[in-house]
Amino acid sequence: MEKLRSQNWFGKKGKDGFIYRAWMKNQGIPDDMFDGRPVIGICNTWSELTPCNAHFRDLAESVKKGVYEAGGYPVEFPVMSLGETLIKPTAMLYRNLASMDVEESIRANPIDGVVLLCGCDKTTPSLVMGACSVDIPTLVISGGPMLKGHWRGKDIGTSDVWRFAEAFKLGEINEQQFVEAEGCMARTQGHCAVMGTASTMATMVEALGLSLPNNAAIPAADVRRKVISQLSGRRIVEMVKEDLTLSKILTREAFENAIMINAAIGGSTNFVIHLLAIAGRIGVELNMEDFDKFSQNIPLLANLQPSGSFFMEDLYYAGGLPAVIKEMKNVLHNDALTVNGKGIGANSESAEVFDRNIVGTMEVPFKESSGIAVVRGNLAPNGAVIKPSAATPALMTHRGKAVVFETIEDYHARIEDPDLDIDEHSIMVLKNVGPKGYPGMAEVGNMGIPKKLLEKGVHDLVRISDGRMSGTGFGTVVLHVSPEAADGGNLALVQNGDYISLDVPNRTLNLEVSDEELSKRRKNWQPIDMNITRGYVSMYIKHVEQAHLGADMDFLKGKSGSVVSRDSH
Ligand code: FES
Repeated sequence: MEKLRSQNWFGKKGKDGFIYRAWMKNQGIPDDMFDGRPVIGICNTWSELTPCNAHFRDLAESVKKGVYEAGGYPVEFPVMSLGETLIKPTAMLYRNLASMDVEESIRANPIDGVVLLCGCDKTTPSLVMGACSVDIPTLVISGGPMLKGHWRGKDIGTSDVWRFAEAFKLGEINEQQFVEAEGCMARTQGHCAVMGTASTMATMVEALGLSLPNNAAIPAADVRRKVISQLSGRRIVEMVKEDLTLSKILTREAFENAIMINAAIGGSTNFVIHLLAIAGRIGVELNMEDFDKFSQNIPLLANLQPSGSFFMEDLYYAGGLPAVIKEMKNVLHNDALTVNGKGIGANSESAEVFDRNIVGTMEVPFKESSGIAVVRGNLAPNGAVIKPSAATPALMTHRGKAVVFETIEDYHARIEDPDLDIDEHSIMVLKNVGPKGYPGMAEVGNMGIPKKLLEKGVHDLVRISDGRMSGTGFGTVVLHVSPEAADGGNLALVQNGDYISLDVPNRTLNLEVSDEELSKRRKNWQPIDMNITRGYVSMYIKHVEQAHLGADMDFLKGKSGSVVSRDSH
């Protein structure tokens, strides 16, 4: 093993070495921890404000056990944590900021390898993005999903929040029942129990080869989550000895595998934006077409909410992600390297499916349509995304009149107006919720349907916006329209009553307005004034890229590596 980077601190003689070691010793560290053994950072997003990650101190202890067992020295450190439910205006606004924290924290410290403790939605991409820009041996552990909730004899999870809200609006449940359900849903530690964005991200890291097998689905409350953490602690020490860096695992093949596996499990549309950003950091070419191309022939194998019926814990009991991967062995790059030094195919060789209601086969899948479809046209020249498995089949080809909301505030103000001109054929259009327009690109794309249509039994309409949708959401929702309205995309020019045609089978999205009329409208168009002139948000607006590029900041693309050339003393 070559001299490790931590020895540039702890292996020094004289005053500098004294300072580097002496202050660490105030934590009761014996001399031999500085003898050249791998120093493993445990990058922790624990926070009581991120309830999905609130159990991470326990997981960190398990990782430490494993690191010690393998002869390493573990050091736990905090980074910015992003809790999806509390952070306003949206956790996505801070994904890039957290990634900067992670990158600089890893590079600036005496760390030879790092374990990333990720859970709630944005904590996974931000940590992986930051680590990619340093590129030392890295292993990801997800916090695991909650156990499913139980309410009045029914299994419930995050996707039911949308159903409860509709039922409450319609008077089908009363306020007391609504509040009662709160305590029944999130009843254990862990992240959302359905295939929302957090589970999509946990699946993504396993599919990319960044975690040990079965990382995606072991519930947070299951002691096997601690076991995988301990085993990960052992393994990262070996990875340092093998110099198994991130860029050796994150190859183009790994990204293609991740896209195919995301299709098979019905992952969130947020997957697109985060995978693009990760590829941009590690330097792998990836574009919107790749999502369509590699998911097109993959059916939906996993029967999980919101596309299906079951929960993440059910997936684990049915064989876990390795069982899904095994079903896909004829299409995946089986040799793609993973953190345990084996190919992803070898890791799933002994997997079995224990419940065919939950994991189907390529021949007899749960649904034929899966993945992410990318649509283009004059309304989205750089593309927009839709998740067919969560949409209404009859609306996948649809022409209708636009009902336009200029901002999310405009939507809230008018959606229940009895005079709102909207019917079951309408297409709802929401502007100014993209990366710049609603700094951070909020998850508001699956706008709720007005009560007057719900009462008629209409539960889905085509909805189009430059925003995102929660991974737990569903419906015929076209998202991530690029360029966004605030950046002068044609979305900004749509007016009430314009006809829009969506044709998902042919991958088109068009505004039926002539070029001449659009140029006339453009002359009168003014970008919304957000009046943000200072701080991180002003920097974000200046530098954030459009959704089809992953919404990373332009100056964060690529990596700076792990070398620090100047000393601190
Ligand atoms: Fe944290 Fe859903 S709110 S994963």
